[in-house]
Amino acid sequence: MKELAEILLKAESVVAVTGAGVSAESGVPTFRGPDGYWRSHRAEELATAEAFQRNPQLVWEWYNERRLAIAAKEPNPAHRILAGWEKRLPGFHLITQNVDGLHQRAGSRNVIALHGDIWEMRCGTENVTMRNEETPLRVIPPRCQRCGALLRPNVVWFGEALPQAALHRAEKLAETCDALLVIGTSAIVYPAAALPMLAKRRGAVVIEINPDETPLSAQADYRLRGKAGEILSAIDRAIHARSPRCARQEPAKVVGQRRKT
Ligand code: OAD
Repeated sequence: MKELAEILLKAESVVAVTGAGVSAESGVPTFRGPDGYWRSHRAEELATAEAFQRNPQLVWEWYNERRLAIAAKEPNPAHRILAGWEKRLPGFHLITQNVDGLHQRAGSRNVIALHGDIWEMRCGTENVTMRNEETPLRVIPPRCQRCGALLRPNVVWFGEALPQAALHRAEKLAETCDALLVIGTSAIVYPAAALPMLAKRRGAVVIEINPDETPLSAQADYRLRGKAGEILSAIDRAIHARSPRCARQEPAKVVGQRRKT
């Protein structure tokens, strides 16, 4: 932990990439864990554009259930620590695959949400996005108040492209960071799963936090097996012990064999 605290304090830029596991300790199910959504639901019936076209009612009922479940949960220590690091470590950036909004509720302000936001809806006809936190939804499926078209959740479904600006920014950050934490993701859904390798190829230190092995594990410089909340708390304590007010240290000239192009 001391070693990791040192790396994070000396880095000019630290990136954290999170997945569903970071919200597991809040009680939000993951996708592929023992109680994960994709164990009991078929992704192609709920999380594709074709499924929405076929049965918007069913898709919205599922999103309504998820919104209800998430609204009843609170951010956990992992979310709070990452929000704190945004304030304390000047070069800190958070990239998430999660759509639950718990990072934002914990106080993170600059979240790159690669897979969208479950609290937003999009009108396909007008291509307008709107915030909507109504739980439960009064009308399913919801319709655009302006043009009457069906609204869809503003999330990325299987087979769809990620928001280009967000992905571009995430890739740039991964390519130029000194340390990248990969927290609570099975690291199998691309292009998010490519970010740690992008960082690693440019010489960044890659730190995986996950109770389980993933396809990334063998490539990670540090593999911390355990729950995100517990491990991040331990790293955070080490950071405070090393630098009580989290004052920035002189940035390291070289961390790993970083090559910038
Ligand atoms: P997954 O459900 O695939 O993986 C969750 C990961 O979190 C697993 O590797 C678990 O071992 C780990 N985990 C479980 N509890 C944890 C804890 N307390 N602390 C840390 N890690 C823990 O979720 P994602 O990797 O986020 O996409 O899934 C990626 C994408 O696939 C999602 O964004 C979603 C899904 O289909 C779309 O819907 C487009």
